[in-house]
Amino acid sequence: MCERYYLPVYRPRRIVLERGAGSRVWDQQGREYIDFGAGIAVNALGHAHPALVAALTEQAGKLWHTSNAFVSAPPLRLAQALVDAAGFAERVFFCNSGAEANEAAIKLSRQWASAQGRDPARRVILTFRGGFHGRTLATVTATAQPKYQAGFEPLPGGFRYSDFNDLAAAEAAMAAGDVCAVLVEPVQGEGGVTPATEAFLHGLRALCDRHEALLMLDEIQCGMGRTGRLFACDDYGVRPDVVTLAKALGGGFPIGAMLVGARAAQAMAFGQHGSTFGGNPLAAAVASVALRELSSPALLANVERQAQALRDGLAAMDAGLGMFSEIRGRGLMIGAQLRPGHAGQASAILDRCIEHGLLLLQAGPDVLRFVPALNIADADVAEGLQRLQAALADFVGAGPDARTRDAV
Ligand SMILES: Cc1ncc(COP(=O)(O)O)c(C=O)c1O
Repeated sequence: MCERYYLPVYRPRRIVLERGAGSRVWDQQGREYIDFGAGIAVNALGHAHPALVAALTEQAGKLWHTSNAFVSAPPLRLAQALVDAAGFAERVFFCNSGAEANEAAIKLSRQWASAQGRDPARRVILTFRGGFHGRTLATVTATAQPKYQAGFEPLPGGFRYSDFNDLAAAEAAMAAGDVCAVLVEPVQGEGGVTPATEAFLHGLRALCDRHEALLMLDEIQCGMGRTGRLFACDDYGVRPDVVTLAKALGGGFPIGAMLVGARAAQAMAFGQHGSTFGGNPLAAAVASVALRELSSPALLANVERQAQALRDGLAAMDAGLGMFSEIRGRGLMIGAQLRPGHAGQASAILDRCIEHGLLLLQAGPDVLRFVPALNIADADVAEGLQRLQAALADFVGAGPDARTRDAV
């Protein structure tokens, strides 16, 4: 069906999902799946969370949209709650997606540098190979991965790339003093679920201080509780100038946000940026409740507990099947790197998982990605691991011909 009508930029799996509750989802045939992907780290409170449903339906009967020529209570409440929750932040800009949040950060850093009298050649933004920051032209340029950029040239100028987790390379890339901002994911998601080392993030903070650049953390995938702290920067103990959020912020309702600290809080003036739907009352009403739930100590403790259970389960599975060369990540953002003998087979493994009633993600062709809801229950983790074990055993037993499928 979607092959006929969609622009063919996606290759969805051959099931049609109909409804969900918590970490379980059902398709049109009534088949049940355990959800270890949560809509790519979006449904952080699972599906149809009663408090989110209540917030959305209550707001739906009141006010849907005002434009930013007027204010309404839900985005005001959310802005204050975000500033209160994020120790470093003074101001918030609302938008509708992760790419837009990063686009706002890119524009903010350029305005900030411009206001200091830096000419355009000295407004370079440093990003890292393996990172992912979105699909708009500027954010795809910030995404230092050729596969996302090919064919879209000419790309906007003023971006420079360096190797992730290589502080000496970042130091060299900033040596000319022309970098106005560093944009980095504390845990790279699409690039393979690779956490920054503590030394790297702290080192970037020091380099930004030395070269008068903004440290901008893309927490779109790794933020909002996923690492076991509400913000990944707190998990690392690093104070950023800008943090971008989306995905889990709305628990499945589209919303993005850019949080700005004192250094750049005055960088944007009236008329310099905007978004028709940014700060939409429906999205903001849901996000306020999501933020409250995601901040709860019990939920953050669950992240730690289930992360350990998943890691233990994957390690035990690997002891039997020998499929993973590394299990890495932070909190409930876990990547299982396939051994060279299974390189390129992540997509085919995900097909097998579906047959066994498990929704799972990949991060590139060689990494299985686990980003379940942060409130996932013990029973769902245990059942999901059992289904994975069965899918992997089936996959390994199927022989090489059945295993090779092209990977995304
Ligand atoms: C770290 C990161 N930044 C930005 C984005 C882009 O977000 P969106 O798809 O909402 O534009 C993503 C999406 O996967 C992401 O993982």
